[in-house]
Amino acid sequence: MAATPDFSDRMLSLGLARVSEAAAIACADFIGRGDEKAADQAAVDGMRRQLNLLDIAGVVVIGEGERDEAPMLFIGEEVGSGQGPAVDIALDPLEGTTLTARDMPNALAVVAMAPRGTLLHAPDVYMEKLAVGPGFKRGVVTLSMSPSERVSALASAKGVSTRDISVCILDRERHKDMIAEVRATGAKVRLITDGDVAGVMHCAEPEKTGIDMYMGSGGAPEGVLAAAALKCMGGQIFGKLLFRNDDERGRAKKAGITNYDRVYTRDDMVTGDVIFAATGVTDGSLLPGVKRTPQSITVETVLMRSKTGSVRRMSYTNPVR
Ligand code: FBP
Repeated sequence: MAATPDFSDRMLSLGLARVSEAAAIACADFIGRGDEKAADQAAVDGMRRQLNLLDIAGVVVIGEGERDEAPMLFIGEEVGSGQGPAVDIALDPLEGTTLTARDMPNALAVVAMAPRGTLLHAPDVYMEKLAVGPGFKRGVVTLSMSPSERVSALASAKGVSTRDISVCILDRERHKDMIAEVRATGAKVRLITDGDVAGVMHCAEPEKTGIDMYMGSGGAPEGVLAAAALKCMGGQIFGKLLFRNDDERGRAKKAGITNYDRVYTRDDMVTGDVIFAATGVTDGSLLPGVKRTPQSITVETVLMRSKTGSVRRMSYTNPVR
């Protein structure tokens, strides 16, 4: 693989943490207030302001939608001061809008940055995903295996019984058969109502989260963000775009995708070095949520660089003015 051009990832990483912090703080007032749209808009505004303070020539490749659908942070939007390295930005200012509106666990503000041209331009369609954490041989599980075969393969690789495997899946009607098949092996299923970037990230820290594997379909943009996270934390993810109609195939074509059946590995989705920041919005198993007192606001961020594999957890408190 060709060497990734240097994009000053070390210098830029703290700036990237500020970007996800800003999104989480901006939507703090909307946690638990039932208004998904307002929460999302606040997070978008907060994230955009901070992104534009960075000395980068950034282009949003994974964003809030296509130009005519999203007032801010649309795909193709140029961000940053324009002075600095040319980078791709993948973002989800509020991953889990419903989780936030209902004050349910694991809503995150997430952003990733990589040298220009190294992040997959995933269209806004579904993606079939499969992820496991670090320490397994490449392809220990594959998308071509059935759900039960994946559980058995992972159990043998870990040297445990299928009963000791725990799988995270989005609680959707479309996953009914998958959930039943996984449970029939004896494995446990942790159902989540939303937020599959967090779902995938759980696989990278199985001792802490109790999750060994993620499977099922969700947003393709979230798949690229999850791949960026796993590139830093270690672990494997496979993704295949799912198309329901010609309009969706058209979106893929517009994004430069010609092979509609391709299975993307983590390193196909993120071909070079990447930095990734996630800030907790609601309390969760990866990060605590935003804490507010009359005097101050505190958030916690995980900031990671794939080049070094460094994982930094940072708490940020600011007085409320
Ligand atoms: P939003 O934060 O945009 O609401 O997305 C949440 C999410 O749960 C993603 O994490 C996931 O990839 C996708 O929605 C699943 O889509 P669907 O709700 O259509 O199954």
